[in-house]
Amino acid sequence: MVNNIPLSVRKLIPSPLRRFVKHAAWRVLDAVDWISGKGHLIPPRKLIFIGDGDFEKTGAEFLGHFTKLGGLSPQQRVLDVGSGIGRMAVPLIPFLSGTGRYDGMEIVPTGVEWCRKNITPRHPNFRFHLIDVYNLEYNPGGKIQAADYRFPFPDSHFDFTFLTSVFTHMLPADFENYVSEIARVTQTGGRCLSTFFLLNPESRAKIEAKIPFLDFYHQGPSYLTNDEKMPESAIAFPEEYVREVFRKNGFSVIGPVHYGKWCGREKFLSYQDILVFEKSL
Ligand SMILES: C[S@@+](CC[C@H](N)C(=O)[O-])C[C@H]1O[C@@H](n2cnc3c(N)ncnc32)[C@H](O)[C@@H]1O
Repeated sequence: MVNNIPLSVRKLIPSPLRRFVKHAAWRVLDAVDWISGKGHLIPPRKLIFIGDGDFEKTGAEFLGHFTKLGGLSPQQRVLDVGSGIGRMAVPLIPFLSGTGRYDGMEIVPTGVEWCRKNITPRHPNFRFHLIDVYNLEYNPGGKIQAADYRFPFPDSHFDFTFLTSVFTHMLPADFENYVSEIARVTQTGGRCLSTFFLLNPESRAKIEAKIPFLDFYHQGPSYLTNDEKMPESAIAFPEEYVREVFRKNGFSVIGPVHYGKWCGREKFLSYQDILVFEKSL
């Protein structure tokens, strides 16, 4: 609601008043969700820590990508790495039949707590795992480095793994270990769908022309970030590097890269770039 007011006008409103109006609007929207019976499917707005954007629409959009691009089917075992506060789990509830199973893995306690309280009791095939892995933006007190973390699942356990806006918040060594863990827990023929900010000649040219909304101007080893002090705020990897890390772990790319609008493209499928991989070894 506050976001509908033009920026120039918004700047004239003192920030405590802006915050008050925004929180009041959230309370009204939360109340509408409860009255319409959707209260257990949409978290209270003040708990949503995964970014702006329409919670329901984004979830519905990605369910379409999981099925159409990734070939997800209702009886599969699904792993959601970085499950946040259930944005992707909620639309999967009616989709995954009694035999399908979902596991979410997340480092922010409030996200896992909300999902455990609101989703698992009604849908016991949906499980949420809190892991104490360090991320400067999301879990700065985390005890385990993502580069050393072993996923809490046996080998070849999953048919389909997805990461929506998660590798865009992870450093190269962490990303590389997570891909090797995804390879370990995915059975042969299983798939992984992930989003990225991919650096290639087109996106690099747009970054140089200062077109993207995110300022990817800081160079780290094998990545660009918009924030030197907190690189996990947004991370872009070279496309070739991403392909190579998956290839080394026995994955091949399925279909074309579905490039996103993040860098100012006029033709796009989603906001971030989407890649689908299949485990062939
Ligand atoms: C932008 S949010 C996206 C959340 C969710 N995937 C979605 O689309 O709603 C990024 C998420 O990645 C999680 N995350 C960051 N580093 C992680 C790690 N090493 N392991 C698991 N989750 C991580 C964050 O806690 C946060 O929930």
